[in-house]
Amino acid sequence: MFITFEGIDFCGKSTQIKKLEEYLISKHKIVKIIREPGGTQISEKVRDILLDKKNVMMFMETEILLFSASRAQLVREKVRPFLNEGYFVLSDRFHDSSTAYQGYGRGLSVDAIKSIHKIAIGETIPDITFFIDIPVEVAHQRKQLKLAELDRIEMADKDFFTRVREGYLLIAGEEKRFRVINGNRDIETIHKEIVKEIHDYDKTELI
Ligand code: ADP
Ligand code: TYD
Repeated sequence: MFITFEGIDFCGKSTQIKKLEEYLISKHKIVKIIREPGGTQISEKVRDILLDKKNVMMFMETEILLFSASRAQLVREKVRPFLNEGYFVLSDRFHDSSTAYQGYGRGLSVDAIKSIHKIAIGETIPDITFFIDIPVEVAHQRKQLKLAELDRIEMADKDFFTRVREGYLLIAGEEKRFRVINGNRDIETIHKEIVKEIHDYDKTELI
């Protein structure tokens, strides 16, 4: 299965991916975790360009093409081979991040972005996408607690993240693979709901 995790920055994706990995391994599954942007030698270099705070004058058109370039490499070098070998592939962000951030957040044409996805990922579409939804204010509070420096995109303002969140909710209304998960609860409760959704998707998968 190919499972992706989406949401605004600090929604708790990485935390849930780690817990799901532990759970799947306990069920004797083989698991690969990937992260976006990045995950291959080429994609990590593109990541550095994308998140570098020195690149303040990056145009949004450049941004969508770089995210998509990183993804195109990741899909062919890692995601497809892993899925063919029978791994559960868990991805911290995937193409919906581009629709939400560059489309609804920055204002690029969502239809144009869909065409770019066709080139970058083709038929490699996730089976399930968990959108971990938290209020922008909660994300902001978590951000204040972060000790490390923020990257170029994390530095954006609350209005930007409000548009991104609303964008995700619009995508969720269109895509059957989306599961909207209330991320403003304790970590264990969210984890249990995620596991239940995977069980419900394909009962034979986890037996
Ligand atoms: P993301 O990968 O989406 O940016 P993380 O999993 O790194 O998010 O979580 C961001 C911060 O919020 C971390 O400090 C983490 O410990 C905390 N966090 C994660 N899930 C929860 C939760 N359900 N409730 C409270 N804090 C959480
Ligand atoms: P990262 O540090 O991986 O953030 P997170 O841990 O929240 O996933 O940085 C990725 C940043 O890039 C994050 O702010 C979201 C943004 N992003 C886009 O704008 N478009 C995309 O297509 C992707 C994959 C990420």
